[in-house]
Amino acid sequence: MAKVRSRWASKFGVIMAVAGSAVGLGNFLRFPVQAAANGGGAFMIPYFLSLFLLGLPLMWIEWTAGRYGGGFGHGTAPGIFHTLWQKNRFIKYFGVIGIFGPLVIFIYYTYIESWLLAYSYYTLSGKYFGLTSQEGMQTFLRGYQGLEHNQFFSGIGPAYLFFVITFILNITVIYYGISSGIERLSKIAMPVLLCLAVVIAVRVLTLGAPNPAHRSWSALNGLGFLWNPNFTALRDARVWLAAAGQIFFTLSVGIGVILTYASYLSHGDDVALSGLSAVSTNEFAEVILGGSIIIPAAYIFFGPEGVREVATSGAFNLGFVTMPIIFQKMALGGVFAFLWFLLLFLAGITSSVSLAQPAIAFMEDEFDISRAKAVRIAALFCFICCQPAIFFLGNGVVDELDFWGGTFCLVLFATIETILFGWVLGIEKAWEEIHRGADIRIPRVYKFIIKYITPLFLFFVLGFWFIQQGVPTILMKNVPPETRAFVLGTRIMLAVIFLTLAFLVNRAWRRKTRLERLRSEAP
Ligand code: ALA
Repeated sequence: MAKVRSRWASKFGVIMAVAGSAVGLGNFLRFPVQAAANGGGAFMIPYFLSLFLLGLPLMWIEWTAGRYGGGFGHGTAPGIFHTLWQKNRFIKYFGVIGIFGPLVIFIYYTYIESWLLAYSYYTLSGKYFGLTSQEGMQTFLRGYQGLEHNQFFSGIGPAYLFFVITFILNITVIYYGISSGIERLSKIAMPVLLCLAVVIAVRVLTLGAPNPAHRSWSALNGLGFLWNPNFTALRDARVWLAAAGQIFFTLSVGIGVILTYASYLSHGDDVALSGLSAVSTNEFAEVILGGSIIIPAAYIFFGPEGVREVATSGAFNLGFVTMPIIFQKMALGGVFAFLWFLLLFLAGITSSVSLAQPAIAFMEDEFDISRAKAVRIAALFCFICCQPAIFFLGNGVVDELDFWGGTFCLVLFATIETILFGWVLGIEKAWEEIHRGADIRIPRVYKFIIKYITPLFLFFVLGFWFIQQGVPTILMKNVPPETRAFVLGTRIMLAVIFLTLAFLVNRAWRRKTRLERLRSEAP
């Protein structure tokens, strides 16, 4: 008898789950840094072009292809790609990227998420209070990460403890399954985190200039700093790549997780309006809320020169060093700092549970393993793979994982699925599939966009990105000699993971063929 696959309990639940996967650290930390560093308001031109020509079409493609594959009992890319192109024996191996990518991101994302839980706790206990300089907070962070022993931390023990707690929380949610675990978490966490973000944004935007000598250091001028366009930046191909990269990362498209989430929909469930709703929720959280917190706050307290420095210091520095300093300078700062870290933690966990799901769905669907067993196997495997990210953080391991899992695989995977959807399945059938059970009609221009513009845009991004960043990274051009061995070790680990998954795909299809033969031979 065919196994009954899990289902989402409500439409609101699945939209919150997909939006939960999308809304993450990328919205509140990565986006403002990217915008400030890449032309301010002018960045929004390539950003919105990427949103309408890449992000939105990919969202619809993944929702539709996922629901289509789910109808055949497949919740991950190997099976979904196979159903889209049954005549091709090799396409399922390309689908391995859709399990490998999210797994690799999960390995480092959960560790970073655990810092947020820790910082929420340290805010309540007041452990870093009084550290109001960048150096002081940086020392605190480095001590916490185990990169140095100092007056705050004598080892990596606390970080490890918070990691274990975060890991267990993730696994527990996943263990409860699609509707009782992930959907229930998303239905609570998403509205809460959006409310927290509104509260913090309103607080920042209503702050008066604290320094009488610098009356121009106001929230409004902070917004001006972020949004005033510098059109000359658009001449640089890197700005266009950064915008496309941000769209991929923030919407969680090209990863493989939306395919899996959509596979738990029913045959006639809407995907057109649901996909659009998930994108809109993410963009509200990113452009409106994400754009109104850290950059205006940094402007108010550090002025135009200071904010420039802060914006180029990277997303981690902003989140874990600059923001705690800023909150300490505000009235009721402790409360807002706690809300800030809680907000980021909730944004993180709704994303990380989605990253683990493809690996679990793969075992359940293709090997008929029970959910509980699949979760146990995935948890053990991920726990082991997380260790290098924790212990060799300062040796380039996380950057390497982020490059392969969070950048390279996304663009490649998106290109493959777009071609499969628009060309192999065929745009007429694809269009019909998108609109089956749909609550809205998508403008017809998207038929043309999905078939021609999105793949062309993807080839362009892939090509440019490969030349500009891919080749130097693959050749380890920017890796300092002392970290080469670690980077190489990480690559070996990734190759082993990828080959293991490819081997498992091979075993799964052999098993299926054997079972089908036995069934057909049965009297
Ligand atoms: N989409 C997730 C984020 O923005 C991964 O953090």
